[in-house]
Amino acid sequence: MPNDQANQTPYYITTPIYYVNDRPHIGHCYTTLIADVAARAQRLVGRDVFFLTGTDEHAEKVSKTAAENNKTPYEWATINAERFKEAFAFMNFSNDDFVRTTEDRHIAKAIEYINTLKDQGIITLGDYEGWYDPSQEEYLTEMVAKESDYKSPVTGRPLEKRVEQNWFFDLPRYEPWLKEQIESGTIQVLPEARKNEVLGRLKQGLRPVPVSRQIKEGDADWGITMPGDDSHRIYVWIEALCNYLTTVDNDERSKYWQGEVVHLMAKDILWFHAIIWPAMLHALGKQPPNSVYAHAYWIAEGTKMSKSLGNFIEIDLLQAYAEKFSLDAVRWFLTTQGPLGANDADFAHSRFIEVYNADLANSVGNSVSRVGNMVNKYFEGTIPATCNGQFGFPDGSSLQTARKALENAGKPVDDPDRTFDLAKFCSEATDKYLDALSNMDLETALDTARSIVREVDEFISYSAPFTLAKQLETLDDAPHALQSILYSCAEALRIASLLLSPAMPQKMAQLWTTWNCTHLTDPSDPNSSFLAPLAQLAQWNGPHSIKIGQTITKGDALFMRADAKEPPPETAPRV
Ligand code: MSP
Repeated sequence: MPNDQANQTPYYITTPIYYVNDRPHIGHCYTTLIADVAARAQRLVGRDVFFLTGTDEHAEKVSKTAAENNKTPYEWATINAERFKEAFAFMNFSNDDFVRTTEDRHIAKAIEYINTLKDQGIITLGDYEGWYDPSQEEYLTEMVAKESDYKSPVTGRPLEKRVEQNWFFDLPRYEPWLKEQIESGTIQVLPEARKNEVLGRLKQGLRPVPVSRQIKEGDADWGITMPGDDSHRIYVWIEALCNYLTTVDNDERSKYWQGEVVHLMAKDILWFHAIIWPAMLHALGKQPPNSVYAHAYWIAEGTKMSKSLGNFIEIDLLQAYAEKFSLDAVRWFLTTQGPLGANDADFAHSRFIEVYNADLANSVGNSVSRVGNMVNKYFEGTIPATCNGQFGFPDGSSLQTARKALENAGKPVDDPDRTFDLAKFCSEATDKYLDALSNMDLETALDTARSIVREVDEFISYSAPFTLAKQLETLDDAPHALQSILYSCAEALRIASLLLSPAMPQKMAQLWTTWNCTHLTDPSDPNSSFLAPLAQLAQWNGPHSIKIGQTITKGDALFMRADAKEPPPETAPRV
């Protein structure tokens, strides 16, 4: 997609809907965060975006934990759904909707889909034979049963071979179609390693998928009754997958399903999203998703997180970090250091401090305050009238003047042939950013944004404006050169801040306020409402650039340096 034209295809990004048996933790926040960063970046590019998250409420474990907590399943689901909503609001996620599968709008449509598939003979009644664990009241796959020597992996009691009547979705009939769609990339399974895994498993053949569970005596009244069969409930996974469609299956939102559809999740549930869901959609005569992206896991201080170890990084800890280092620092750390690729990522305090100092305090924060301070010191905080970003570039006359000033001061000049073209650098970085974004490569996208900051730092070190500033009266052209250099730095940082804003919306909005960049965002929502698509906003010396007469106030430091010797933030013990 060329930089000068916004992609007109609507963009629909989803996260898994999360179980509400417990409160949210880092894993749930992470997937939703990368969806948020992608959604914000696509909005910045100028696309019509719909970002959906929500909760999966009809699982048996929800009714079980509800009973343990003396609540009805719905009461318990509501308590936890609220916790998810609060956590996501705290994380400043910009989701356009939050679906709960207990809502009528979801239930009605899910029933409609199941009915359609039944009417077409794609869902039929059949026998299900499997290994049943009576102690846990669940069926296990052949593989799990074999691995645990046909005993319950939880209690060690023998498994029973059981046959049950069930409704089945005829998955095998879609095998050739699925293979073709995934191999050709019509359905992009990402990252690449995951695509190979899915294709490998597909080769082993497909079996019909149960879409219901028989209601047993003593079962909680929880779940959606199978249409036309009161003795069954729709299997929670089948119903849950439907949320992606139920939420946008109306006149106002159907354009999103016809646009680019991206499902995000972790590797644990890729199969459901890459195989079962696309087949269901195909059977319903709907387009499959364009991309199914499965990231790896967060682990904590080198150890897998689990309930039994009690080492889940919960939202409270993220809040404690946010209080100390700012929310955007937490967002930055999770987005750039997270398990976006095939490898798991470790949440370790020492790493957090390292990344915080290197990327934020010493880089973005420092660069912004250096440039702001110089504009204040040398121009009383106002971009001077003679200043023009084109001045001195690309002929490099400002650099020549800067080198002359260094010579006059008896200071060494690194590489006298070195040239800088910040305008070109920013334009190329913007193209690279857009490219990375289209592959969900947020790490490259954000690093590209930061590369502009690195280039500005290098430019300042090389051109030494503080040396130039001491010769304003004695060196011809020094005033122009100083203006031109500082203007270029400020303008480049403005462009970098745009590219960084999906990950750090609040901090970048803070910068735009202190630098009076009122022509970038809607003043009623500087957090996300841009006045033009990125290609225009990021234009050097364009309508949204830093302007002559613009006041750049010093403002508070964006990120204070962190002391690695201080103890990590802690959370209060839970009562
Ligand atoms: N309810 C189902 C999903 C239905 S989608 C139609 C479910 N829920 S879940 O609450 O268990 O959430 C699983 C998802 O949470 C993972 O796919 C991932 O997005 C996120 N994570 C949970 N633990 C995680 C980590 N340790 N690390 C990163 N993300 C993980 O499955």
